[in-house]
Amino acid sequence: MPTIKIIDPVTRIEGHMSVEVTIDNGRVVDAYCTGTLFRGFETILNGRDAWDAPVITQRICGVCPVSHATASVLALESIDAKSVPDNARILRNLTLGANYIQSHILHFYFLAARDYIKLLNAAPWAPAWDVDMRIPATDPINGHLPQAIEARRRAHEMGAIFGGRMPMAHTFIPGGFTAVPSQQSIDKYLAQLDWLINFIRSVYIPDVQAIGAVYSDYFSIGGGDKNLFAFGAFDLNAGGTQKLFGRGYIENGQTGAPAALNLNDISESVTHSWYSDSTNNLHPSAGSTVPQNPKSNAYSWLKAPRYTGKPFEAGPLARMWINGDYQRGISVMDRHLARANEALKVAEAMRGWLSSLRIGNPVYSDGTVTSGSGVGLTEAARGALGHWVLASSGKISRYQVITPTCWNASPRDSQNVPGPMEKALIGVTVADANQPVEVLRVIHSYDPCLACAVHVIRPKSRARIVSVKPRY
Ligand code: NI
Repeated sequence: MPTIKIIDPVTRIEGHMSVEVTIDNGRVVDAYCTGTLFRGFETILNGRDAWDAPVITQRICGVCPVSHATASVLALESIDAKSVPDNARILRNLTLGANYIQSHILHFYFLAARDYIKLLNAAPWAPAWDVDMRIPATDPINGHLPQAIEARRRAHEMGAIFGGRMPMAHTFIPGGFTAVPSQQSIDKYLAQLDWLINFIRSVYIPDVQAIGAVYSDYFSIGGGDKNLFAFGAFDLNAGGTQKLFGRGYIENGQTGAPAALNLNDISESVTHSWYSDSTNNLHPSAGSTVPQNPKSNAYSWLKAPRYTGKPFEAGPLARMWINGDYQRGISVMDRHLARANEALKVAEAMRGWLSSLRIGNPVYSDGTVTSGSGVGLTEAARGALGHWVLASSGKISRYQVITPTCWNASPRDSQNVPGPMEKALIGVTVADANQPVEVLRVIHSYDPCLACAVHVIRPKSRARIVSVKPRY
C-alpha cells in the first residue's frame, strides 16, 4: 500500500510551500508541489504610475529584491527602447551581484547544509531529524557558521553602498540610477568584496565540495528532466547584447552550444493552479492574474510556465551550464556546486566592474515612460526572472511576473506534465518515511523562493496519509 506524505510547511526555504509525495516500497512514485500563498502583486500594479513598479515589485521578496528592481527598470525602459549610461548599468550590476552573494551563502549554510550535517544538540538546532546524517556535528563546516553570518552581513552592506539600503534598494529608476560613485564608496565596496572573494574561495567552495565527497550518491539523484533555461544577466554593454551570463536553453542534459531562446514560445498553464481557466496557456505579455479558489484539480498558487510547452529548470546550474562554466552533471549535488562556483565567478567579475566606474560621469538619462509594451529579463539568484508590462501614458495597465521558482516548483500543466521539482522527486529513495530528508534535499537543491513564486492536499483512496512536520 502506498503512503502519502505531506511536508507542510517545507522549512528552510523562502516563502510558503508544501510538498506531497507518494512513497511505495521506499521510493517516491508521485509528487505534488504546492505554493500555499496568493501573491497578487500583478493586481496591485494595475493602474499605478510606471515608476512605482521597481519600488513595489521589490516587495515581492526580501531575499531577491534587486533582481525584481532590475527586471522592472529593464521592462519599463524597453517600452521606449532606452538605454542607460554605463555608470548606471555597472552600479546596477554591482548591487545585483552583492544580492547574489548574500543569497548563495545564506542558502548553503543556513538552508541546505542542515540536510547533510548533524546538528548541535541545542536550541535552535534540536530537536531535528536524524536520518542519514553522515557528517558529525563537530565537523568544521558547522564551525564556519559565524563566518557565514559575517559574510552575509558584508554582502548586504556592499549592496547598500550603492543601493541605499538592503533589502529593497532605493536607487533603481527607469533611465538609470540615483546613487553616484565616489572614490570612498568604491574603496568601501572593494574592501568588502575582497573579503568575500577570499571567503568564497577558501571556505564556501571547499565546504560544498566536502559535502559532495561524503554524499557522492547525490550526484545521481534528483536530476529531473535535465532541461535548463536562462534569460541571462549582468549586462556588459549598453543594450545588453553582451552579458556575464548569456541567454539560451538546453534539453536532456546536452553539453553542446545552447539553443537561442524565442521569447514568443513562453506560456503559462493554470490548469492545476488556482486561477481562472480563461487565462490558460497565455503568453505573459497577454497574461492576467484572476484567482479562483476553490477550483477542481488545482493544487497550487503557482502557475506553470513552460517553454515550447515543456518544463525547464532555472537557476545557477542552468546559467553555469549554458555558459560552459559547469557541465559535470545535473543533480542535487551539482546544483550546490554550480551555485558555489557561480558565487566566485560573479564576485570576480564585480571586481572588474568596480574598476570601470567613472567618477563624475552621468548615472541617469531620460526615464520617461510613454505607452506600449515592454519586457525586462534578468536572473535572480535562483534563476530566470521576467517582467512583462503594458503601459498607457506612463500608467501600468498590465503587469506579469514569472519568477524562477515558478519554473522550478510549478505544478502540472495542461498536458498533466509535472513541474521540474515534481519530476526530480519521482524515483527518490526514502529510508524512513517518517523523516523523508531525502525529499527535502531535492527540494532545497533548487533554493526555492515561494514568496517570489506564488501561487493540499487531496486524499487518495487506499493510501495512508501522514502529515510530516520538519522539526527544524
Ligand atoms: Ni525571491
